[in-house]
Amino acid sequence: MKKTILVTGGAGFIGSRYIRYLLHTYEHIDVINADALKYAAQLENVAAFVEDPRYQFLKCDLTDESAMRNLFKFPIDEVVHFAAESHVDRSIDHVDPFVQSNVVGTTRLIEAVRRMGVKRMVHVSTDEVYGSVSHGYLDESAPLAPRNPYAASKASSDLLCMAAVHTHGLPIVISRCTNNYGPHQHQEKLIPKLIGRALQHRSLPLYGNGEQIRDWIHVDDHCTAIDAIRCRGRTGEIYHVSAEETKTNIEMAKSILEILEKPSSLIQFVGDRPGHDERYALSAQKLRSELFWQPRISLMQGLKETVKWYRRQEERREGWR
Ligand SMILES: NC(=O)c1ccc[n+]([C@@H]2O[C@H](COP(=O)([O-])OP(=O)(O)OC[C@H]3O[C@@H](n4cnc5c(N)ncnc54)[C@H](O)[C@@H]3O)[C@@H](O)[C@H]2O)c1
Repeated sequence: MKKTILVTGGAGFIGSRYIRYLLHTYEHIDVINADALKYAAQLENVAAFVEDPRYQFLKCDLTDESAMRNLFKFPIDEVVHFAAESHVDRSIDHVDPFVQSNVVGTTRLIEAVRRMGVKRMVHVSTDEVYGSVSHGYLDESAPLAPRNPYAASKASSDLLCMAAVHTHGLPIVISRCTNNYGPHQHQEKLIPKLIGRALQHRSLPLYGNGEQIRDWIHVDDHCTAIDAIRCRGRTGEIYHVSAEETKTNIEMAKSILEILEKPSSLIQFVGDRPGHDERYALSAQKLRSELFWQPRISLMQGLKETVKWYRRQEERREGWR
């Protein structure tokens, strides 16, 4: 039977890849992409499917109640919720947009899901809600301990979703994923920034001593995980998404320089981010054993392809100059 899936934040990095995945994988799915087109949105992310009759874009800010009423005039079966302010550094400078989009926006969405009897909502969250992880890989029973404003706003939205499941019986599932990399990510994020600067033979700035550990997953593996959760996840459950590929930031910078055959002397240490978490690491055991998901792209393979993609973008830009 034909279904309509609302994807929020589908002009951003992960949401646009997820829409691409949906349109490639299913024939009988219509997709509505609702995005406020904030600074991180890139319409070129959706250019490849803009002509697809199954795809529709609606400019819509989730915090705007009347825009949300108009959006939910469409018959929506399921919702996958990516829309958020997503950059930690910006949240440290200005927290308001994070409270607005991530907390108020999610609240409005939950209200609409309740009002319209939507059958499934996946709330896309992050490993950052747990704060720094001293050792091992966390499972879904770990306590929330967000330590920066972005993480706190995401943890708040997770709690609102869980409350909506318990209070109103809404069919919401939460995914919490580790750091994504891949094509179409905004230039302000670590991997595109390092690749972009290395391509221009400029210094690669790393916070502090560069020894912070992050758990990396290719965006396309994140998309297959979200889809497994949408299709088979149990209401009210949290599922971790991780490829369990932990690396220090300095190791990531060195790998990028090696791929591009550039010297590691380009690495430059800069003043640390306030309250910088040392280590993130999640176990995806539940997702693997319950929903039979597994990542397919190894970090080295994915990183090489990602570097190649940003190099092509840079060459195209060079060609236009
Ligand atoms: N990038 C990662 O490594 C990562 C890891 C785990 C979880 N996540 C989560 O995945 C989601 C997507 O992340 P991303 O990296 O693609 O982010 P992104 O910043 O690239 O894209 C976010 C999109 O949301 C839109 N948006 C923001 N506020 C909105 C609002 N009020 N109404 C409608 N649209 C709005 C923006 O215009 C943008 O297109 C976020 O919820 C983030 O917390 C990201």
